[in-house]
Amino acid sequence: MSNVAAVGLQWGDEGKGKVIDILSEFADVVVRYQGGANAGHTIVVGGEKIVLHLVPSGILRGETHCVIGNGVVLDPETLEKEINDLKARGYMKDDSRFMVSALAHVIMPYHKALDKLREREKKQKMIGTTGKGIGPAYEDRAARTGIRVVDLLDRRVFRDKVRENLLLKNFIIKKYYREEPFKLRDVVNQYGTYRDLLKRYAGDNVQFLHKSMEDGKSLLFEGAQGAGLDVDHGTYPYVTSSNTLAGNIACGAGVAPEAIEYVLGVCKAYTTRVGEGPFPTELTGPEGDLMREKGGEYGATTGRPRRCGWFDAVIVRRAVMINGVKAISLMKLDVLDDLDTINICVKYRIGKKVYSDPPLAMKDLAACEPVYERMDGWRKPIRDAASFEGLPENAKRYVKRLEELAGVPVGIVSTGPQRERTLLLQNPFSP
Ligand code: GDP
Ligand code: IMO
Ligand code: MG
Repeated sequence: MSNVAAVGLQWGDEGKGKVIDILSEFADVVVRYQGGANAGHTIVVGGEKIVLHLVPSGILRGETHCVIGNGVVLDPETLEKEINDLKARGYMKDDSRFMVSALAHVIMPYHKALDKLREREKKQKMIGTTGKGIGPAYEDRAARTGIRVVDLLDRRVFRDKVRENLLLKNFIIKKYYREEPFKLRDVVNQYGTYRDLLKRYAGDNVQFLHKSMEDGKSLLFEGAQGAGLDVDHGTYPYVTSSNTLAGNIACGAGVAPEAIEYVLGVCKAYTTRVGEGPFPTELTGPEGDLMREKGGEYGATTGRPRRCGWFDAVIVRRAVMINGVKAISLMKLDVLDDLDTINICVKYRIGKKVYSDPPLAMKDLAACEPVYERMDGWRKPIRDAASFEGLPENAKRYVKRLEELAGVPVGIVSTGPQRERTLLLQNPFSP
């Protein structure tokens, strides 16, 4: 048995979906432990592209069990669509291989409405959320007014909880935002239609995962978002509302911290960010446009163009540290194929002051100028490289330099979205 976690080291969209799909070949159970349908994890198999928002990215392997942990905020509407879509494509043949934690909090229609209304109200100060109700749902969890899957399964409990919640939510929606309130009957009826689906999959994730470990099975924990979006350690307030770091796996899945034996940090060979917030290495001109086009950098959840920029070793080094990363999965190296020179941000500067760690105040981070190291590009396609040795010299040099800067080895190099375009230098399940 060995358990592995794959977590994002930047601002999300690092390619976690692809990595989980690859590694799930070696895992018995794949587990999501935080976030919700704000995630968009893309997998490309046999020319077919599949984007998953809630169902773990191990679902394409017929043998793997997939679990949505208690730390996830679950939108049943998205889940229903996703399951129907997967089944239509011939996946998820065996329902007993999928479990939704009965303790997961449910995203309600008022969460999505409030998420959007708040953003509208904030205007220039908006966060640029995905509008999926993530913030308001986690707030209710912390306020102890949230509704969990187990509550939704009980008609009376559910109705009572929705009624109580609507008192305050409708007051805010009507009086503060001057919008139409929600009707109890509508909400109860709509969510009643998800009861059968959730009944089929709801279970005790804690019991299931511990039994799996006792039976010698291997678990793979699938992070959503990335360290830069972590509610404590990210670029607050331009973050999501959950802890994305490996440390939160224990709480969000219900396993002991020592159950996580190997943390793989997933990061791109450059940087992207979708939504607002500081981004020191951002390229706002034609270089950024080139990266966006070559890398297909458009949001998998909202379709928004992603902001693009150079690799930022300052944020990656910190993400490695706070996640306890053992090795990096370096993604999308092929996107840099055509460049004559490539920049790596090794430090920041504000005036004469130099920073090796990100400054803590957001206004300072926003004022940081990147200090770049410049490397020659390799200027040829790398997608057909069959081994690390087969990469062009300058590509190898680039990877080696990133290893030095991050302080951990690169265990996987990804040279294209497809499964075949993967150089597995160190298998996290048999290091
Ligand atoms: P996630 O949220 O971390 O799972 O990442 P996304 O799926 O949102 O975004 C990653 C995008 O990059 C997807 O469109 C993937 O198909 C694609 N991708 C993953 N790895 C590679 C790679 O090595 N090269 C290229 N060109 N694309 C990749
Ligand atoms: P994956 O798992 C990239 C960003 C949003 C916004 C901020 C807060 O695909 O990497 P939220 O809806 O969570 O309240 O939005 O977080 N964001 C992501 N950016 N990838 C994601 O997930 C993201 N999930 C949220 O764009 O800036
Ligand atoms: Mg994504």
